[in-house]
Amino acid sequence: MCGIVGYIGKKKACPILLAGLNRLEYRGYDSAGISTVEKNGLSLIKDKGRVNHLASITGIDELEGTIGIAHTRWATHGKPSKENAHPHQNKTKTFSVVHNGIIENYHELRTLLEENGYSFVSQTDTEVIPNLIDYYYHKDPKQDELKFLRAVRNSCLDLKGSFAIEVISSDYPDNMIVVRKDSPLVIGSTEEENYISSDIPAILSYTRNFYLLEDFEFAVLSRTSAKFYTSDLVEINKKTQTIEWNATAAEKDGFEDFMLKEIYEQPNAVRETIGSRISLTGNCELSELHFSKLDLEKIQKIYIVACGTAMHAGIAGKNAIEKLCHITAEVDIASEFRYRDPLLDENTLCVFISQSGETADTIAALKLAKSKGAKTIAISNVIGSSITREADYSIYTHAGPEIAVASTKAYTSQVVLITILAIYFAEILGRCESSLLSELKSDLLALPKKIEETLKQNETIQEFARKIYQEKDVFFLGRGIDESVAKEGSLKLKEISYIHSESYAAGELKHGPIALIENGITVIGIMTDPRLVEKTISNIQEVVTRGAKTFIVTNQKINSNQFDRVIFIPDTNAFISPILSIIPLQLLSYYISKEKGLDVDKPRNLAKSVTVE
Ligand code: F6R
Repeated sequence: MCGIVGYIGKKKACPILLAGLNRLEYRGYDSAGISTVEKNGLSLIKDKGRVNHLASITGIDELEGTIGIAHTRWATHGKPSKENAHPHQNKTKTFSVVHNGIIENYHELRTLLEENGYSFVSQTDTEVIPNLIDYYYHKDPKQDELKFLRAVRNSCLDLKGSFAIEVISSDYPDNMIVVRKDSPLVIGSTEEENYISSDIPAILSYTRNFYLLEDFEFAVLSRTSAKFYTSDLVEINKKTQTIEWNATAAEKDGFEDFMLKEIYEQPNAVRETIGSRISLTGNCELSELHFSKLDLEKIQKIYIVACGTAMHAGIAGKNAIEKLCHITAEVDIASEFRYRDPLLDENTLCVFISQSGETADTIAALKLAKSKGAKTIAISNVIGSSITREADYSIYTHAGPEIAVASTKAYTSQVVLITILAIYFAEILGRCESSLLSELKSDLLALPKKIEETLKQNETIQEFARKIYQEKDVFFLGRGIDESVAKEGSLKLKEISYIHSESYAAGELKHGPIALIENGITVIGIMTDPRLVEKTISNIQEVVTRGAKTFIVTNQKINSNQFDRVIFIPDTNAFISPILSIIPLQLLSYYISKEKGLDVDKPRNLAKSVTVE
């Protein structure tokens, strides 16, 4: 959702900026633009449409500047158009600004600026920013080296909402200022250059050393230095953090699409997420957490809060928490949780799951939980992301960068990590038989191989995809933990194939949805719980009788003749069965999308990271 790139160094900025925008394409956008510091002032080239179109605009090849900012816009205020695309400038074109986020009080700021003689050419909230900077710059009588920074700082203090901003100025051809509040932005640094981006993968090929900005920290960048200031303009010392991901992790590496690559990366993502946290000989280790037995005994309720796929991972993991720790766990959608005034106090533990760590609703839900005294843990895939900075404790999945919009390896790694969290708590609490925990640990350790085995079913799945890719409606059914997989399978399918799909607890079928079942409709059943398999089979029989085509994912010994296609997956512990049973459904959605000729990695209307409400 909107992407920012910046470069300040010795090379021509434009090709680096365009390459960065290309790498951020997966975030979703409708227009793109670039501004560089040229000998004769600031360049500005922008339009609606893709980055390829931007790269073909006359004049872009002639940009020589070695400092520049670039942006992919996801329209919020004002339709996608050349005028509304970023960068935006002040009237005299001395400042260029790109911005991610939303300025909630832009209307009032715009009126104030208009009263002071400023005029606007776009409908965006962002355009107030270069004009405010211009306003404060000219109002400031001092002529010292902090003048540019002061103007940006004073403007930011007026802004309500969320922002990640890059500013360049024709009056300061050797500097760039960047700042963030509740919106992601990282600075990758080498000895001779600084790279700026909304997320790490876009600039990972240049450096693995990153500065992570806190809210309202200002960075003044030159080619060879990065200085940091608080909002009071006190200079602060900041160290780079080394990111372990390597550059090929953010490339397709021979795969046709990122999504397919990420599906196939799951054995390793799971292996890395388990890491040395689990061993068969000792207790589970989560060194990032510091909970005593007494701390945990006080916890009366655990909320797992997240959005979309991350929330589905929460539903899959809730069982392990409840059963192993004997603490009631509830899963909430972050956008609901934040407004429903949940009962929270110091005896509540809230676990927030977010691959990106930048999802606006999840961050807001976390802030709410903290304000009410609840203890908070963040589960994220991105080191230093906003939720990890906000939470009391953070634990990381080690899935590597996830580029495809549809989440796959992040989901399976999240389920792994919540299960590890449940084991960690259970071992401290001692409320559960140790044999149960040992069994679960050894099943976790066996998962990567079993994922590899499951992936080998790709051809059968592709063949079924060819059979059903023109469907209009698909139903996903499961009971117990399989229902959580039904939800995730259904989300995957609708996201990337645009086929309408619904997921139901199989037992609910008779209470309404069966009315929709007619000849030829596709029903997908997930059956991994031995206690419930017969019941789900009966439900699926009911749809078979009504002419449905059926695709079953199971680890149970069932008679496959009764269904159109059965994918047998390896058996595993019931708590972690979603990690295997989701894989055929990820592949099915992928192959259906390919059959339909769609853009798997960048589905319409979707953004990878939902940084606004
Ligand atoms: C679906 C998907 C989304 C995300 C959701 C939360 O494939 O990727 O539903 O899971 O937007 O994103 P994060 O995990 O970054 O908070």
